Amino acid sequence: MSARPRLRLGVLVSGSGTNLQAILDASQRHEIDVDVALVISNRAQAYALERARAAGVPARVIGAREHASREAFEQALIDALRAEDVEWVVLAGFMRLLSGHFLRAFPQRVINIHPSLLPAFPGLEAQAQAFAYGVKLAGCTVHFVDEGTDSGPIIAQAAVPVLEDDDAERLQQRILAQEHRLLPAVLQLAATDRLRCEGRQVRVLAATGAAAAAPSAALIAPAALAEVQRGWTPRGAVDKP
Ligand code: GRF
Repeated sequence: MSARPRLRLGVLVSGSGTNLQAILDASQRHEIDVDVALVISNRAQAYALERARAAGVPARVIGAREHASREAFEQALIDALRAEDVEWVVLAGFMRLLSGHFLRAFPQRVINIHPSLLPAFPGLEAQAQAFAYGVKLAGCTVHFVDEGTDSGPIIAQAAVPVLEDDDAERLQQRILAQEHRLLPAVLQLAATDRLRCEGRQVRVLAATGAAAAAPSAALIAPAALAEVQRGWTPRGAVDKP
């Protein structure tokens, strides 16, 4: 790991927080140069708050309805994050859109994880959308956040094949397992200052500062591909004697 100071991360959540847990675990094991400085939920009953407390990380509830306007809500988020010297913010199952007011406070330092291969299936229930559409390759995306819905520049993606006997629930679980690998990997790129965003292109610098040869290839889910190789037989294949 590098000698630079560990990145101070704010995590915004609304629900179960399994992605938060993946970050907390990777941080605790020193697999990433990241400290979770603050977790904020807009919902008081989010289980993610328990995960933060169990890890000894400050956790706060800041609800939108308690504020007179969207801007006032976002300003409360900004104030709380700044009070903890947060440098980067990750949306990990945070169920609200953020406006330019929030994004300008952390320019090119707000990322989101979404459970589809964007730009396919933005918005809610992306895994169910993908399954219902009949795609053969699903996955997840980590991207910079802009003011649209899941529309910012793509940093990294992991592909998850749809298996013959999948249902939406099983597919969702296998995508989630890849989310838990992809998000900490991207955070380590942020922590080591290796992400460069130029328009819609996000480049990943090699550790030396030169352009990396094929950064995204390393992030394509190798475990999921191995799963296919183990368990999948092409239709019409002749049974071996
Ligand atoms: C994940 O599927 C994430 O991609 C989406 O919301 C879900 C959050 O799950 N944005 P969790 O709360 O991290 O378990």
